[in-house]
Amino acid sequence: MRNGVSPDWDPRSETVQRDPLSAYDRMREVSPVAYSAFLGWSLFRHADVLRVLHDPATFSNEVSRHVSVPNGMDPPRHTPFRQLIEPYFSASRLTAFEPVCRGIADELLASVRGAGIVEWMDQVAMHFAVRVQCALLNWPPSMHEALRTWMGANHAAVFAEDREQLAHLAREFVEAIHSVIHNRSAAADDITGELIREQVRGRPLHERELVSILRNWTAGEVGTISASVGILIRYLAAFPKIQQRLRSEPQRLPYAIDEILRIEGPLVSNRRVNTQPVELHGRQIEAGQRITIIWPAANRDGRVFDQPTRFRWDRDQSQSLLYGSGIHVCPGAPLARLELRVLMEQLLASTDWVEPGTDAARPATYPAGGYVRVPLCVKWR
Ligand code: HEM
Repeated sequence: MRNGVSPDWDPRSETVQRDPLSAYDRMREVSPVAYSAFLGWSLFRHADVLRVLHDPATFSNEVSRHVSVPNGMDPPRHTPFRQLIEPYFSASRLTAFEPVCRGIADELLASVRGAGIVEWMDQVAMHFAVRVQCALLNWPPSMHEALRTWMGANHAAVFAEDREQLAHLAREFVEAIHSVIHNRSAAADDITGELIREQVRGRPLHERELVSILRNWTAGEVGTISASVGILIRYLAAFPKIQQRLRSEPQRLPYAIDEILRIEGPLVSNRRVNTQPVELHGRQIEAGQRITIIWPAANRDGRVFDQPTRFRWDRDQSQSLLYGSGIHVCPGAPLARLELRVLMEQLLASTDWVEPGTDAARPATYPAGGYVRVPLCVKWR
């Protein structure tokens, strides 16, 4: 018991980790506001999550004393930082980046081409996410392996609540970013160089703010992108009719990608802290508590989505919380959508079919979403 509240569930239990999506579905129906020492108060229903997202005065993002730009900020501090980062994901920048992204997808697919059996997560998904993010920032290839290793260690430390190891990993990552920044000319014609030259409220970014932005765009997002890549291909392998339709009508990919990721969310949770006492579903929550949004549960809520776990070609996706909602809605969504579309286009164009491998896909462990292993049988063209 922590804070004098008995736990309603254990998010790290074997049952939850064996099949997280079913466990979150169950919680949403039987215990929509559930306490655990690990996650504080978890919210599973769409309406409750929306309430949190649209009331930043009550549900604050300032959950930690560490600088986190802009995720860990509330208005008015959040606003200028948010305005600073949004242009980096503009349509013109992304159009220019698309060929780079496609080149990385092609190279990775060429590296497994000819293999009948592919372990998609190890051989493609993680490499793709790391390489695209590093290419966007023009970071050296030496950062690829460092990022991959760091991600795995960080996830394990979060799950184990190993604060010492988390602090060590955070320091290690900050040092790695420092070395990139310090080796970069201030006049460098790339996104990292532009960020170094940025101004906020008429002053240059403090180094810790710059490091935080770069950290969020790499360590923060590589996991979500690679999880998405795994979820998408596992889903298409499991549902060959959808796969074939997308192979012959690739223009439907953007819709299908969002629909699959609504059904199997790649991002599990985000945090808030309540600034005043609140009541949710009859539960009294005193001020200063950790509130955890469970995204996949909200996105499979039958109160909002008809037949929520079924893929539908005609769904109104405006209620989907895949990329959040409100002032913290994902600014990187256009980049994520571009990366995922391009990889899927290249994969579908270079194969006749993709089927599940003989071993079952294995779900990832919290805080990661998606799968750790996605074995596939592939018939290349
Ligand atoms: C499939 C991939 C992605 C998914 C599902 C996703 C989802 C989300 C969600 C749900 C939020 C809202 C969090 C909250 O309200 O607490 C968010 C915020 C954010 N995302 Fe993403 N994201 C993805 C990829 C990316 C990428 C590629 C970038 C940048 C490189 C990015 C940068 C950010 C940032 C900076 C925020 C914080 C925005 C703020 O606080 O104003 N995301 N994302």
